[in-house]
Amino acid sequence: MDHIAHPRWIAGRYGLAHLLGRGGMGSVWAARRRDDGQLVAVKLMTPAQAASLPARRRFAREAQAAMRLRSLHVVAVLDYGIDGDVPFIVMELLTGEDLRARLRRKRRLTIAAAAQITAQTCAALELAHGAGIVHRDLKPANVFLARVGDREVVKILDFGLAFDVDPDEASEHAEGVLLGSPHYMSPEQARGRPLDHRTDLWSLGVLIYRMLTGAKPFGGITVTEVLLRICTDPVPSARAVVPELPPGIDAFFERALARDPGARFQSAHELGAAFAEVVGSEAERREALTIPPPMEVLGESVPPPPDDDQVPEADDTDSFDPQHDCQGRTAYRLAPSAHHSKGLL
Ligand SMILES: Nc1ncnc2c1ncn2[C@@H]1O[C@H](COP(=O)(O)OP(=O)(O)O)[C@@H](O)[C@H]1O
Ligand SMILES: [Mg+2]
Repeated sequence: MDHIAHPRWIAGRYGLAHLLGRGGMGSVWAARRRDDGQLVAVKLMTPAQAASLPARRRFAREAQAAMRLRSLHVVAVLDYGIDGDVPFIVMELLTGEDLRARLRRKRRLTIAAAAQITAQTCAALELAHGAGIVHRDLKPANVFLARVGDREVVKILDFGLAFDVDPDEASEHAEGVLLGSPHYMSPEQARGRPLDHRTDLWSLGVLIYRMLTGAKPFGGITVTEVLLRICTDPVPSARAVVPELPPGIDAFFERALARDPGARFQSAHELGAAFAEVVGSEAERREALTIPPPMEVLGESVPPPPDDDQVPEADDTDSFDPQHDCQGRTAYRLAPSAHHSKGLL
């Protein structure tokens, strides 16, 4: 699956075992730590992320900040460095699947499952934002649903590690490397404006919309179309897609996806509380009607599509794959996922 030859050892300390996944920023490998034989996950990033001295400094700064973030809901970063010209991050090895894979299988989640994921994601964001760390690339592939004993726990991946990808410069990236999803980019990010923590709150709004409806609020065939819609389209009604959603949900999304950051929820805590209130009243209403709540914790009530291996519909995809057309220009098409997360036993 991996076409790029990587040395078997990273920094002489981590022996790569097998590829876990591949994304816009590089590849993630299961590896064994030489010192104690511990299994870890090593993320190899694209050399461009440490090409210049300022880029190296920034990488080191962000990796150090990520190492200091200690939360049940943030993947633990154990080490980082630059091997040759390849920056790498060492993390605890997670088993389970990311939300992208979950949504692919189940299309949409129950309100209860979405509420659990949202609450845990808000806890992670609140902590990180308090420490001055903005994620900048919150999307389903970075929300890992980790199996911890008999529970499923949200672990946010890639805090602060996103590097700004200019869609116009995508052709300069290594061939075959998937671009990060534009669907979760905030309007200010799409416009290349300065970012603060509220960019993550926008992305979380898109993520919640996707979990509840199975659809993305701002879709399109090309990156440009998606970004244009993010910056200009009105917020579509979630209840128009799934009429059973609670009445307050559209007002919630109007606020979460307000184009002006000042009109959004101002903190992860505030967003989480507002969401819990909207879906909480739904839980009470259901109880009053004596409809039993869903049994699964982060599980699913919507049946998966009949053929799980089917290539997902264009709109069900998170990444754009730069494709070169016959004139040698770079075009974009919606591409199926190029990475799968494999649990290591
Ligand atoms: N610590 C980890 N343990 C297990 N799997 C991981 C870990 N970190 C990342 N992965 C898997 O590798 C995939 C690719 O990661 P990444 O390169 O960050 O992709 P993306 O840029 O799309 O977020 C993730 O979606 C996830 O499934
Ligand atoms: Mg990631």
